[in-house]
Amino acid sequence: MIVATSCSAEEPLTLVELPSEPLGSRDVRVAVRAIGVNPVDWKMRSGGPLRLAHRILGPRGPLVVGVDFAGEVVEAAERADLRVGDRVVGGTDFSRKQLGSYASEVVVRDEQCAVLPASVSFEVAACLPVPGVTALTCLELGRVREASRVLVLGASGAVGLATLQLTRARGARAVGVCSTRNAALVERYGAIAVDYTKGDALAAAAPHGPYDLVVHAVGTATYPLRACRSLLTRRGVVALVVIRPADYPALAHRDVATVLGRPHRAVLEQLVSAVARGELETLVEEKIPLAEAERAHAMSRGGRVVGKLLLIP
Ligand SMILES: NC(=O)c1ccc[n+]([C@@H]2O[C@H](COP(=O)([O-])OP(=O)(O)OC[C@H]3O[C@@H](n4cnc5c(N)ncnc54)[C@H](OP(=O)(O)O)[C@@H]3O)[C@@H](O)[C@H]2O)c1
Repeated sequence: MIVATSCSAEEPLTLVELPSEPLGSRDVRVAVRAIGVNPVDWKMRSGGPLRLAHRILGPRGPLVVGVDFAGEVVEAAERADLRVGDRVVGGTDFSRKQLGSYASEVVVRDEQCAVLPASVSFEVAACLPVPGVTALTCLELGRVREASRVLVLGASGAVGLATLQLTRARGARAVGVCSTRNAALVERYGAIAVDYTKGDALAAAAPHGPYDLVVHAVGTATYPLRACRSLLTRRGVVALVVIRPADYPALAHRDVATVLGRPHRAVLEQLVSAVARGELETLVEEKIPLAEAERAHAMSRGGRVVGKLLLIP
């Protein structure tokens, strides 16, 4: 199998050949057709708590980053509930000693994958796992239902765009904070756009609130937590998708929580169904060959990607 590997932020991702991984009793081998790039993929290379967790819990050998993938099952263990030929979407999990998804094939447990209907392409599916699961987890946390109000900070990123659409699908109202160039996109998904380049975005969002949920996908250095909390309803919550150590003390408050988007079958099936029903669209900024994964990381690190970058093995 071919993987893209790099042991640090400084050493560029390069393709190497590794022996295929053996299957566990409920594992499947998936030939990867498309890989969704997430900021966590380059954050993992940069050291910090994520890398430490990977060192302690992850597999030995070269660091292969990446979580999201879509592809075709090419081998299934006897106890796996998937079959050769199934088209699937899923996410790898280093805490199960699995290599990442920047690879020509992955080996994962059956329950980490959902089967794709013929109407959902590999490229659409590969955009879904981490951002979609994160968005749905936020909506559950905020108990979002009809007539709820949701403020999305970072509305044009992958998490933001999924949150806007899934909010609309629940009959709730979204306000999306974005730059001028993305305002029309945010409005296309039924949200009110607040342009952060035109002044204090939280002050501009306040008249559209109060909010049952603030999805914070930018970081509290940019949009301070205290100001976000002041926009909440009495039972509202700020879901911190991006967390930094300075935020840890605030987690003691009832109205602040962190969210971890960890793909698994039940949630992936909800996302795939939302796509099939036409409630959730994906937006790909660029498709990039896996051999150029380093360029994809440079783009993602720049923080300006609208929707998703895909890698194609
Ligand atoms: N906790 C979890 O499980 C989890 C899961 C997924 C993602 N994350 C984290 O969440 C963050 C977002 O990830 P992502 O994949 O959605 O997208 P991303 O690639 O980080 O987001 C880029 C988007 O953010 C917009 N943006 C930049 N500065 C902004 C600002 N000040 N206000 C509003 N929007 C701004 C950019 O558009 P403009 O430049 O045009 O504004 C661009 O469209 C990342 O830090 C990621 O690591 C965490």
